[in-house]
Amino acid sequence: MLAVIVRLASVDDLPGLMSVEERCFGTEKFSQETVLAFLIRDDAFVVVAEDSREFVGSAMCLASSEEREGRIASLAVPGPMRGRGVGAMLLRQCEKIFEGLGLTTYTLEVETTNEKAISMYHSHGYEVAGLIQDFYGLGRPAYFMVKKTGTGEGAAVTPS
Ligand SMILES: CC(C)(COP(=O)(O)OP(=O)(O)OC[C@H]1O[C@@H](n2cnc3c(N)ncnc32)[C@H](O)[C@@H]1OP(=O)(O)O)[C@@H](O)C(=O)NCCC(=O)NCCS
Repeated sequence: MLAVIVRLASVDDLPGLMSVEERCFGTEKFSQETVLAFLIRDDAFVVVAEDSREFVGSAMCLASSEEREGRIASLAVPGPMRGRGVGAMLLRQCEKIFEGLGLTTYTLEVETTNEKAISMYHSHGYEVAGLIQDFYGLGRPAYFMVKKTGTGEGAAVTPS
């Protein structure tokens, strides 16, 4: 098993998070302003995976207490680290935080051609609930995927 830890990110992690964005998404990466917003907003949080040398993945989430909904806006593991369980670790950590916040519905969008990610989300209990045309650009639709959990009676905790 890899010596990878998963933890909540802070503003100090911004350069490392941008490096993950660059390695995973290139020109389609989130801007530094967007990543910073996930780090500082009260209704958002970022989870980072790191080994002894560098960041090996990240997940950016939004949490709506009113809707009791957690949204995974981005989940990424750089190419060389894929297929070793890091993505699943990040997903589980996001869900743990959602659960602690009392959120009962978890949602995300994923490109319809992204078989690996769809397979990961399916195996963690997400179902396709809709199709969003042109979500990633013209002719690039996304599945809207949803996971519904229990009653959501977790304590109201601040994620970061
Ligand atoms: C999707 C992504 C996050 C998965 O991360 P990962 O670290 O490779 O995933 P894991 O090793 O934890 O595998 C989790 C699950 O993904 C699926 N998966 C992983 N590699 C796969 C492959 N080559 N083919 C099919 N499914 C695969 C499996 O369901 C796997 O479950 P298992 O652990 O029971 O085998 C990663 O491929 C990635 O960053 N891709 C580019 C960015 C992206 O597409 N993000 C998602 C946008 S919504």
